[in-house]
Amino acid sequence: MEQMNKRVYIKTVGCQMNVLDSEMVIADLKRHGYTVVDTPKEADCIFYNTCSVREHAEEKIYSALGKIRQTKEQQPDKLIGVMGCMAQKDQEIVFKRAPYVDMVIGPGQLHRVPDLIEKVRAGEGRQMAVSLKRNEGTQAVIARSHETFDPLRDPSMRPTPFQAYLRIQIGCDKFCTYCVVPNTRGPEQGRSPQQIVSEAQILAEQGCREITLLGQTVNSYKFKNEDGTITDMASLLEQLQPIEGLERIKFVTNYPKDMTERLLCTIRDLPKVSPYLHVPAQSGSDVVLKRMKRGYTVSDYMEMFERIERILPEAAISSDFIVGFSGETEEDFQKTIKLVERCRFKNSFIFQYSERPGTKAADRLPDDIPREVKTRRNNELLAVQDAIAKEDNQKLIGQTVDVLVEGPSKKGLKSPEGAVVQMTGRTHCDRIVVFDGNRRQAGQFMKVHVDDCSSHTLVGRVETVDVVNIGGLA
Ligand code: SAH
Ligand code: SF4
Ligand code: F3S
Repeated sequence: MEQMNKRVYIKTVGCQMNVLDSEMVIADLKRHGYTVVDTPKEADCIFYNTCSVREHAEEKIYSALGKIRQTKEQQPDKLIGVMGCMAQKDQEIVFKRAPYVDMVIGPGQLHRVPDLIEKVRAGEGRQMAVSLKRNEGTQAVIARSHETFDPLRDPSMRPTPFQAYLRIQIGCDKFCTYCVVPNTRGPEQGRSPQQIVSEAQILAEQGCREITLLGQTVNSYKFKNEDGTITDMASLLEQLQPIEGLERIKFVTNYPKDMTERLLCTIRDLPKVSPYLHVPAQSGSDVVLKRMKRGYTVSDYMEMFERIERILPEAAISSDFIVGFSGETEEDFQKTIKLVERCRFKNSFIFQYSERPGTKAADRLPDDIPREVKTRRNNELLAVQDAIAKEDNQKLIGQTVDVLVEGPSKKGLKSPEGAVVQMTGRTHCDRIVVFDGNRRQAGQFMKVHVDDCSSHTLVGRVETVDVVNIGGLA
């Protein structure tokens, strides 16, 4: 029977880390008798899992909090929790801006959620559970306050039952000057390879065919074992390759300086590891990269890029860029365009610089590029990237690609049950493919012949005659 006051709603924004954190929190709450509902209206506990990477992401949450103020006034028993990076960054500010919030919970404290709910309900007042700040103790003490929280897996919370995220690293020590993540997620810590491998085994047993390993700089992964040996990313991948049932291993995000020859050769030699590498460049100008404290020059990045092309000629490489960072001149920006033209990324995520309190850039560098200029550079870079992606996708027309089918596409979701629907999936290189099929194909690998494309999507048809017959589509 559904228990009263144990209905929970959770809204998640931000990166894959947050998606995974929400999965863990829900798995934990379910163990405590909670059920998940689809709207805040039906819920007894409303949670927002938040992101601080850009101001816009935070404002969206504060505005959502503003909207439920009245509901909370009318139904004071409804509990409201703010968790994630903004909770860690803003702490008391959340209570100041939204005094009706009951719980503020940082990403390193999520294992305490059921307990904190009980405390509020027991009349102990509003609760704040956050980790230590980067200057509040020794590295080891701070690290301990950012706990990982991973063994509870709940297949029903995943985007699809056959794909899962697996955290291998928390935190970040790179301190790029613009970035809030080292403050919100704490020091870089690798999880032990034993934990990671056994979690991957559990996921495979639950029917997972693709795992995506998560870390802020995932290829910098290192763990010191009890016997003193070091497990790095390459040896971790070697340990994951033999797991039965797993077919694909992806990992994000990579740090350019740690993309070693050894790691690339390992990726080449392990068939389950996807030849897809997200390696953000952030800028094509040395002056800007230096101001960002990224730790490499454009020529270092190009050297790495050529290393990937040499060892993994089939690899798809993608990137992130920030436009309008402090002091970025038109000339700097043109250098970024040049880098995109040289590298021909599979895709790039482009962001307008957003000054974040508590970062070095906020303290020392002016946010001096006007909003219109940021927007114009954003659009210009996007146009260049999209044209390249389209040209490169066109080269795939006429070829057959292996697709792990994820489910109906947005368009397909509107089709009635049982009808031919547009399905979507991804190739080993993470290219999105849509084709006409049926819902039962979800979770299967299919060969799809590419007929058409846009800059973000390949359009095709299923090749295997047998499968088409099973689907009744011949
Ligand atoms: N750890 C990852 C990225 C984390 S944040 C990495 O190092 O690549 C994801 C992306 O958001 C970054 O790659 C960067 O392009 C962008 N970003 C981070 N801070 C930003 C800021 N203050 N303003 C605009 N974009 C930002
Ligand atoms: Fe942020 Fe840089 Fe760390 Fe990525 S590597 S999370 S951009 S500080
Ligand atoms: Fe955002 Fe935190 Fe991820 S700031 S991008 S949710 S690590």
